[in-house]
Amino acid sequence: MKRVLLIVSGGIAAYKALELVRLLTKAGYGVTSVLTQAGAQFVTPLSLQALTGNKVYTELFSLTDESEMGHIELSRSADLVVVAPASADILAKMAAGLAGDLASTLLLATDKRVLVAPAMNVRMWEHAATQANMALLQTRGVLVVPPDAGPMACGEFGPGRLAEPPVILAAIEAALGVGGPLTGKHAIVTSGPTHEPIDPVRYIANRSSGKQGHAIAAALAALGARVTLVSGPVEIGDPAGVQTVHVETAAQMLAAVEAALPADIAVCAAAVGDWRVADEAPHKMKKDGGVPPALHLMENPDILARLSAPGPQRPKLVVGFAAETERLEEYAAAKRARKGCDWIVANNVGGTGIMGGEENEVLLLSADGARAWPKAGKIEVAAKLAAKIGEFFA
Ligand code: C5P
Repeated sequence: MKRVLLIVSGGIAAYKALELVRLLTKAGYGVTSVLTQAGAQFVTPLSLQALTGNKVYTELFSLTDESEMGHIELSRSADLVVVAPASADILAKMAAGLAGDLASTLLLATDKRVLVAPAMNVRMWEHAATQANMALLQTRGVLVVPPDAGPMACGEFGPGRLAEPPVILAAIEAALGVGGPLTGKHAIVTSGPTHEPIDPVRYIANRSSGKQGHAIAAALAALGARVTLVSGPVEIGDPAGVQTVHVETAAQMLAAVEAALPADIAVCAAAVGDWRVADEAPHKMKKDGGVPPALHLMENPDILARLSAPGPQRPKLVVGFAAETERLEEYAAAKRARKGCDWIVANNVGGTGIMGGEENEVLLLSADGARAWPKAGKIEVAAKLAAKIGEFFA
């Protein structure tokens, strides 16, 4: 029997943890639960105990708890640690590595995969601190079931509501390798910018951070796919559970992508430099007060177009991105036709600090037409895209 250690932290959504426990036990999982002090304000240890059939742990320094089962043992006996709902506070503790109570100590001491389902007020979720914590946790391999958007208990509207328990259950099953919708599928994801050298110390680059592509790689892996992430130079870490290949130039990115084939899915989220310097200088170029040098550029290979070209190696689903600043749908549709890919995720990068930022506002274009998605964090956009890809293969 697979065992889940469920940490219930504070928030009005804590009551939904009881429904999650019911679904988990019904599906045959063993559940041990830990209730944070704030969590215990919303659900009682007794109700959790009744539903799990197991003792509920609440205090780090309780002698009885420690003598029965220390915090190391608690997570050692689990196959997966789940935090649902995960409050802004516990996510911040996880990101900072704090260990002041039983829940945070367990999360710091565990050697098991951790899945979090955040729930909080929309402003707390959208706060740069929470988004930065989430991005950091994802690079450490923490799996995320993003919150839903909708009317909230606090009277506001937006993302922050705990994902529905069946959605969390599906993510838990995928994390445990039990039938994620993309199990057995290989996905190649390109991410980040490219650096095209001018001479040994200078290069042409762009503002891409790799946040969207990396989040997509993590989201596909969370649904069970084997993922090869081909990343240009970025400042964020490699997502855990994903094989990351680091490259600098477009030519290297194409070579790494071709080496990773065959694949069932390709998502080209990289901002590949359109041009490279044709006559890269072997030594650092010197200024001598004369005429400034002119760069001779030549076009780079189009990785997305190559992947989309018909042939035995073509992935079944090829997804491209289109960053535009105007006439989004029209340009994206033209790009889809020109490149030959199946879907285009079009994003408006005009003026709002989207490129390099934490959020994205996209339009998904497929043979069925265009669908606008509400502006959301890059992690949520990634989860939604991965879920759509999961449906495609269902
Ligand atoms: O042509 P444009 O750069 O606007 O197309 C964007 C899409 O094409 C993105 O999916 C990007 O990853 C991909 N692309 C590529 N290789 C290039 C240029 C763009 O894969 N050389």
